[in-house]
Amino acid sequence: MTLERSNIAAMQGYAPGEQPQDPTTIKLNTNENPYPPSPEVAAALNSFDVASLRRYPNPVANEFRQVAADLHGLSLDNIIPTNGGDELLRLMLTTFVAEGEVVATTKPTYSLYPVLAAIQDATLREIDLDAQWKLPGDLIQQLREMKAKVFILVNPHAPTGSLVTSAAIAEIAENFDGLLVVDEAYIDFVDPALEHDCVPLLHRFDNLLILRTMSKGYSLAGLRFGYGLAAKNLAAPMLFKTRDSYNTDAISQRLAATALASQNYAKSTWDRVRQSREEVFAALNELGLSCLPSQSNFLLCTIPDSIGAPGAYAALKQEGILVRYFDQERLRDKLRISIGTKEENDRLINALTTLCKGNSSAR
Ligand SMILES: Cc1ncc(COP(=O)(O)O)c(C=O)c1O
Repeated sequence: MTLERSNIAAMQGYAPGEQPQDPTTIKLNTNENPYPPSPEVAAALNSFDVASLRRYPNPVANEFRQVAADLHGLSLDNIIPTNGGDELLRLMLTTFVAEGEVVATTKPTYSLYPVLAAIQDATLREIDLDAQWKLPGDLIQQLREMKAKVFILVNPHAPTGSLVTSAAIAEIAENFDGLLVVDEAYIDFVDPALEHDCVPLLHRFDNLLILRTMSKGYSLAGLRFGYGLAAKNLAAPMLFKTRDSYNTDAISQRLAATALASQNYAKSTWDRVRQSREEVFAALNELGLSCLPSQSNFLLCTIPDSIGAPGAYAALKQEGILVRYFDQERLRDKLRISIGTKEENDRLINALTTLCKGNSSAR
């Protein structure tokens, strides 16, 4: 006998990226920032008053919310602090999606969305991207026909790294009756020359929720801190009704606020990641492992059939380099590779060069 709800019994849990035991492994499989958190974060942790932990933390992380509000030109009412971006997604579904209602997303996308929809016992509908991995021209019509309550769009897209413009996002928000969730987990790595910014759209649309995380751009994946940005009326039920009473802890509130305030440091890591991304992009293409241009901190590259993506994944693992392989439609001939430090990227390219050369001499 199982006591699980039937939808829980029927579902598969989320499969996180592998965590190597060997500390020398080059970990390019979960899109972490290759650089450490800011020195200010280290100082804040060192000076944290442990005695203060006997008290509950501020329930809504007001110190963090103030820093975020100032950074984004919004007010406290627009900021929803969460235990990682993942918690925001769960909170959003709990708050806005009833059992059986339709959660729409793209295919492929971040693999947690289907898992969270299954937990909520929502109906998942996946919208195919076109041959260039772009949103289909009839997206709004499809959303209407499937009666989607929520559309979750990861932007820049995972796992391709392509970017939907803010004008296109505005058009979706304007013409879609449901809630548009734009998951900006990787937004910090977008080329600043593009001047991409969806935050101003929050003043126009009260059906738009933007997800941000401290995990990637701020090098704090281990801390578990993210936040939502939304119009006051959309944010309020998540902030004051459905959120766990103390969903973020006192230490993470302090460190996340400190990291968000260290903008210059964070930006310096984004610049380095972007520069390395262009170098790795060029090197992979040179090797014949064609990559899509990416606005994120990872690249999706195609592995020739003669090697095969699972074979390349295994060969890299043998060399102590972990990347991500997805056994999914359209992705079975590809690897998603996070951008690492210069040394890590060089090791990756060397290993792939050996693999490609071995492969061509074997033929
Ligand atoms: C697309 C996307 N959204 C959200 C997240 C959530 O990140 P976190 O819960 O670490 O903030 C991730 C993490 O990998 C992600 O890839």
